Amino acid sequence: MEIKKHASLKAFHTFGIEQTCAYLAVVESIEDVIQLFNDATFKDLPKLFLGKGSNMLFTQHYEGVVIINRLLGKTVTETESHYLLHVDGGEDWPALVEWCVKQGIGGVENLALIPGCAGSAPIQNIGAYGLELQNICDYVDVLDLTTFETRRMSSADCKFGYRDSIFKHALYEKCFITALGLKLPKQWQAINQYGPLQSIPKDELSPHSIFERVCQVRMEKLPDPAKVGNAGSFFKNPVITQDHYDQLVSQHSGMVAYPALGGMKVAAGWLIDQCGLKGVSVNGAQVNPLQALVLTNVNNCSADDVVELASLVKKTVWDKYQIELEHEVRFMGSKKETNLAEIEAGR
Ligand code: FAD
Ligand code: EPU
Repeated sequence: MEIKKHASLKAFHTFGIEQTCAYLAVVESIEDVIQLFNDATFKDLPKLFLGKGSNMLFTQHYEGVVIINRLLGKTVTETESHYLLHVDGGEDWPALVEWCVKQGIGGVENLALIPGCAGSAPIQNIGAYGLELQNICDYVDVLDLTTFETRRMSSADCKFGYRDSIFKHALYEKCFITALGLKLPKQWQAINQYGPLQSIPKDELSPHSIFERVCQVRMEKLPDPAKVGNAGSFFKNPVITQDHYDQLVSQHSGMVAYPALGGMKVAAGWLIDQCGLKGVSVNGAQVNPLQALVLTNVNNCSADDVVELASLVKKTVWDKYQIELEHEVRFMGSKKETNLAEIEAGR
């Protein structure tokens, strides 16, 4: 296993911000992970697992060990009714989706071009264009970091929710995701309710045509992290009460929202856009002019610039709509995870 001391994280996350860590280890097997946790040099240091770093903001130098998941391999077995995929956690998610479509295996195409590793996908239950991982997840294999035993969790065990799972709560920092099982019905059914997918003619609907359209929509709307640093949607779409929604919609026509989770889920991108924040910058950090929910690194910004911009966005939306935005992007401090409120309170 490769271990570097005082390493740069720039190539290991998608915001493109210069940040460093005390140690960086690339693990290729479960044994590598166990070895790291038992090594006297690293035993008492904080540890952070990373896939592709596409949902991360490193707010400071990280004083621990960043562990890059590169457990690779995948197998496909078939039953009469399903394709069963077993995917090691370090496999690249967008490459996996493309591979499935090329093999004629449908059911994952709506999740095309979502950056990251397969092993990270269950953590926030990745979702896009009418599909969430939970709809196709059969199981998640984990290494228990207390006993160093592996076990298989069913999809129900994972307690998936909107951008949420047990890995953010009861199992937070308690396990390493080693592999993912997907169960894809051979009797394919198109998921094409999302606006731009509805225009695909019925007789042209296929995993391939949906894949192509999803890629096209994403490339038009979302900045490519290889060109402009970002971590996708910076905030989650907030859920507000029906009463709050009724009150707001009477004052703000055209508000984009739909019923979800016992209330109304509001498009945070619309809120930010309506506040006139598109294109607004703090030094090199900018609210994306095409998709206001994405904050970008347009000119060598620092993590502080992103934090300041995120604070501005959150405050402006609160002042206009009394809606509290919660960030989806994970903030990593010097030793442990942090968040916008904690950083603001410490200033
Ligand atoms: P990382 O950012 O490396 O890690 C995320 C979190 O998971 C961290 O807390 C990390 O410690 C933890 N972690 C990582 N691997 C493991 C492991 N093996 N075991 C335990 N913990 C682990 N998300 C969506 O849901 N839908 C989208 O449409 C979408 N679009 C995006 C578009 C762009 C351009 C970008 C940059 C991001 C987008 N995202 C989207 C967010 C991101 O792609 C997902 O959150 C993805 O699953 C993150 O994968 P990763 O490997 O990069 O995780
Ligand atoms: N909108 C605006 N202005 C903007 C951005 C959006 O008015 O600047 C409006 C759009 O016109 C649309 C609505 O807001 O009516 C929703 O926008 P969009 O369809 O682009 O989706 P989103 O709600 O902004 C969510 C996910 C994305 C996912 C897409 C597609 C969250 C936080 N984000 O974005 O996931 O790809 O739907 O399903 O749920 C991510 O999590 O990182 C991510 C990119």
